[in-house]
Amino acid sequence: MKLQGITANFAEANVDSLAVAVFKNEKATTAGLKELDKLTGGLIAAMMRSEGFNGEKNETALIRFVPKGAVKAGRLLLVGVGDEKAYNGPGVAAFVGTATRFLRKRDSKSIAVLPRLSGSAASAAQYAAQGFITSQFELDKYKTKDKLAKSVDSLTVCIDGAKPADVKNGIARGKAIGESMNFTRDLANEPPNILTPTEMARRAQAMAKETGLKCEILTEAQMEKLGMGSLLSVTKGSEQPAKMIVLRYEPAKSTGKKGELLALVGKGITFDTGGISLKPGEGMDAMKYDMSGGATVIGAMRAIALIKPTVPVLGVVAAVENMPDGKASRPSDVVTAMNGKTIEILNTDAEGRLILADAVAYAEKQGATRIVDMATLTGAVIIALGGHNTGIMGNDQALVDEIIACGKETGEGYWQLPLGKEYSADIRSDIADIKNIGPRGKAGTIMGAVFIEEFVDKAKWAHLDIAGTAWADGVKPHQAKGPTGVAIRTLVELVERSQ
Ligand code: BES
Ligand code: MN
Ligand code: ZN
Repeated sequence: MKLQGITANFAEANVDSLAVAVFKNEKATTAGLKELDKLTGGLIAAMMRSEGFNGEKNETALIRFVPKGAVKAGRLLLVGVGDEKAYNGPGVAAFVGTATRFLRKRDSKSIAVLPRLSGSAASAAQYAAQGFITSQFELDKYKTKDKLAKSVDSLTVCIDGAKPADVKNGIARGKAIGESMNFTRDLANEPPNILTPTEMARRAQAMAKETGLKCEILTEAQMEKLGMGSLLSVTKGSEQPAKMIVLRYEPAKSTGKKGELLALVGKGITFDTGGISLKPGEGMDAMKYDMSGGATVIGAMRAIALIKPTVPVLGVVAAVENMPDGKASRPSDVVTAMNGKTIEILNTDAEGRLILADAVAYAEKQGATRIVDMATLTGAVIIALGGHNTGIMGNDQALVDEIIACGKETGEGYWQLPLGKEYSADIRSDIADIKNIGPRGKAGTIMGAVFIEEFVDKAKWAHLDIAGTAWADGVKPHQAKGPTGVAIRTLVELVERSQ
């Protein structure tokens, strides 16, 4: 794919189609549209009149056969972006994504976009590039014919009067983030017979080699030595050996505070049957996405390796399959985690927290002072927040607030749920230190979080429950249905703010 920026003479861009962002209730006579309207002989004004095009979000109007000469592109696409005051970087990504998906259906191979975002040109270029790339992801990898999508191969981002270097840098960052989101989405979409824990580790390793990250894969024997009895209890029913994927980004020159280390930790359950506490058959297929937290860590580390911030980042993924078997863990088993705490397993389907317990403890042992874990941890978060917000909880309000702020900036919603002693008391076990479930039907998402909290010692920690946001059930104008790559943009922003 070819991505480039231009900073003047947009009408001369030699592309199949030109897409223009149009604000709600905007007239063709505003400063931003006037020139284009004139060049097209008043076609924009005519379109707004005849089609009632109003600039509402995701509204589209295609003007075919733009008179040759004035504008080089053969088609002009108007895309509504809503209220001008609320328009921002994520709005640019949605605009470019919508335009790309619309035009690729109509055989455009090269497009130019006019995002019309006031303020930072680098930011506009970044979101344009990211939106272009993520909008073209499709679920058709395993189709041998009737692939869903053609592709748009070339994007030209037009930002009037910008510094060419800003646009170029923005595009490079957006490309790194967008391609990394698609990398994560591809992993999340893989069937579990193909993406086993071993294969997930292999892909992380190959990515690390390409991008210059350090990568270490811990085997079950090594995890045994480290005392990870909680994680290992989950893999016992599986023929597939568990892997702990450890990725390290170390900057050439660090500007971070000495001794500070941010760790990203992910749940990588490559398939969740529930184990002996078997899930119902209906809908179980969805549980191939139960490694989305781990895939998010791998994708975020990829983006970080390419963007090269000046602070170190550690990535830890617990890759495990949860299966029922004669060797599988039973409800009522007691196991000991790496930090010495004993756990009564009362439901083998609450397995995510069991693997994260040892993964966060391992991250802290590796020197992490701030830990963000992400996991498709509970069905309860889907009931509470649906698909529009990720549940966030943590032991440090400043870290939680910072992640929420990074999400606001990058267009990803978070909603905080409370933690506290009263909730922690709900997972006290009668016979061990803690049990892996709380009271039936009560605060399921919080129960998952307070469990993981027991394995964080001194580090500042936040937990993202992405069960509702990692997979989109329907197609959107700018995005295919399926895995979303949620949280990567937030995490990259978080790392950059720590520099
Ligand atoms: N991976 C699931 C969470 C999940 C469930 C995500 C449904 C999406 C849809 C997790 O491992 C799980 O099974 N959680 C249980 C916990 C319960 C047994 C305490 C749940 O949410 O039902
Ligand atoms: Mn489960
Ligand atoms: Zn699970």
